[in-house]
Amino acid sequence: MPTQNIEEYLRDQGGKPTLRFLTCGSVDDGKSTLIGRLLYDSKLIFEDQLAALEADSKKLGTQGEDIDFALLVDGLAAEREQGITIDVAYRYFATDKRKFVVADTPGHEQYTRNMATGASTAELAVILIDARKGILTQTRRHSYIVTLFGIKDVLLAVNKMDLVDYDESTYRAIVASYEQFANELAELNVTAIPISALKGDNIIHASKNMPWYAGPTLLEALETVEVDTDVGGKAFRMPVQWVNRPDLNFRGYSGTIASGQIEPGTEVKILPSERTSVVARVVTYDGDLSTAGAGQAVTLVLADEVDVSRGDVICSVSEPAQLSDQFAVHLLWMSERALFPGRQYYLKTGTRTVPCVLTDLKHKINVNTLETQPAKRLELNEVGVGNISLSERIAFDPYRESRALGSFILIDRQTYATVGVGLFDFSLRRAQNVMWQALTVDKEHRAAIKHQKPCVVWLTGLSGSGKSTIANLLESRLHDLNRHTYVLDGDNIRHGLNRDLGFTEADRIENIRRIGETAKLMVDAGLITIVAFISPFRSERRMVRDLMCEGEFFEVFVDTPLDVCEARDTKGLYKRARAGEIRNFTGIDSVYEPPEAAEMVMHTETESAEESVERLLSSLQERGILTVD
Ligand code: ADX
Repeated sequence: MPTQNIEEYLRDQGGKPTLRFLTCGSVDDGKSTLIGRLLYDSKLIFEDQLAALEADSKKLGTQGEDIDFALLVDGLAAEREQGITIDVAYRYFATDKRKFVVADTPGHEQYTRNMATGASTAELAVILIDARKGILTQTRRHSYIVTLFGIKDVLLAVNKMDLVDYDESTYRAIVASYEQFANELAELNVTAIPISALKGDNIIHASKNMPWYAGPTLLEALETVEVDTDVGGKAFRMPVQWVNRPDLNFRGYSGTIASGQIEPGTEVKILPSERTSVVARVVTYDGDLSTAGAGQAVTLVLADEVDVSRGDVICSVSEPAQLSDQFAVHLLWMSERALFPGRQYYLKTGTRTVPCVLTDLKHKINVNTLETQPAKRLELNEVGVGNISLSERIAFDPYRESRALGSFILIDRQTYATVGVGLFDFSLRRAQNVMWQALTVDKEHRAAIKHQKPCVVWLTGLSGSGKSTIANLLESRLHDLNRHTYVLDGDNIRHGLNRDLGFTEADRIENIRRIGETAKLMVDAGLITIVAFISPFRSERRMVRDLMCEGEFFEVFVDTPLDVCEARDTKGLYKRARAGEIRNFTGIDSVYEPPEAAEMVMHTETESAEESVERLLSSLQERGILTVD
């Protein structure tokens, strides 16, 4: 019987093998109807649920007097209202032969994320096709994503056969075209079945309407298909969710076991510290366990006093996870706002979240042809291959070896929305080969002989807002005060270091990334570094801020309104931009995101450049930057 509590349910079903599968299809392909039909025809729903279903079907009436099976599955209110499935819904049922966990995943383009989530825990995918429409780009995308996530078996359910008069040639043509595509996908086994989820053809019972089909029904195929059911990996992995320390006498590490088995006496390794210990107890709310495995939430007590924190991974000693901060990855982008190399995101894997940057986008994959294409960014629903760099080392497994710690999500730093999912392919060897060289003379020494505290004064604002004028004045004043300075100015740097960059979003991100790194070197050299770049995006200004130490980054918003900059038009660029001669001009057809919490705002309309600079100097003075110790 279907129930909400998976663990209880699976326990009730004893030792039968479990098949985890997901259904994917486009909107209206009939995914929910299919699952509803499976549950209904195999008598897997309770009588009272059935009565409610019949009543609901009449009330909402999408199928006339017939039962609307989708209502059984589409538990979410929003789903019913919009007629699309918006989240992953897991259903559990069993037959005499197998237990099933099915992820009903959305087919709407925007919800690829949920599909990927479903695919990462499944062994098989049911790909639904509307017999009237045949293979769509989405069918190819879904097939590509399921193989990317390690699924090797597909049931191709050619649905709505009733609407094409159960025509054999229509079915054969669809299957042939799919097989041609699937041949290109590595190791994909395809079983095709003509069905009508609505009418019940070939779901549980062989259809009388398609005597030309001699293969298994959908349920038979689900019950018999041979799949690798150990996809989560075998080695023990448990990301630590929290350190449980109610009093001085107890210290345990709580989390959900991602893969493998554990029991008291097992030797474990903690990553990233690489310390080892032995499991003393496996504690749960219902008492201590003699053994625990994947999917179980437990608290481990270790024999030694080792330092373990949230985000660490406790793993098997003989087969530990790897440690790295640079990876080759596959990425699936899921945000309307494109992914750009050089921009910072958070990467979350297991219970660990760290800042990361896509350092190199090698190519993207055309899901229709499976060809690779060069790319400078990834748009919504695109899949790409590239390198990722993290700010610190984390524990991971290559996805193909173990799904548990092999995947990650990317999170937007401003909105905290999930914007991508990815798979670790392998750790880049250079991560192990490049060490940090310790030098005898450091930033403090270099700054001390200059009698100053180095910092970055970062001037941001529209073109023509007055950044260069202010930078120039500020440097002159500091020079008079015997301070050691340097000015990095957009126009000038674009003649040298950054002369290969234009004004697309991707190029501006790279522009600021390089200048951020350069400014960091200059601060390390002990200089008061003045930066005058439009730097239109919050993400990159934030990234540079994070590169610096606390108190070193002084953001100044040179707040001159667009109409004033345009009226001044000292370089004549606004006129040309308005005339369409210059594309992507900031403020005209490229965005400027004003700072939300700059250390200082300069209103150049009401304040002269000299006054602004004096104000800036006193503020630096107050912060101790100009103080000589
Ligand atoms: S940023 O956006 O990447 O930070 P940056 O400060 O380096 O820009 O360069 C801006 C200068 O380049 C402007 O002051 C202007 O003189 C010139 N420029 C040329 N084309 C553009 C454009 N499309 N948008 C903005 N500035 C441009």
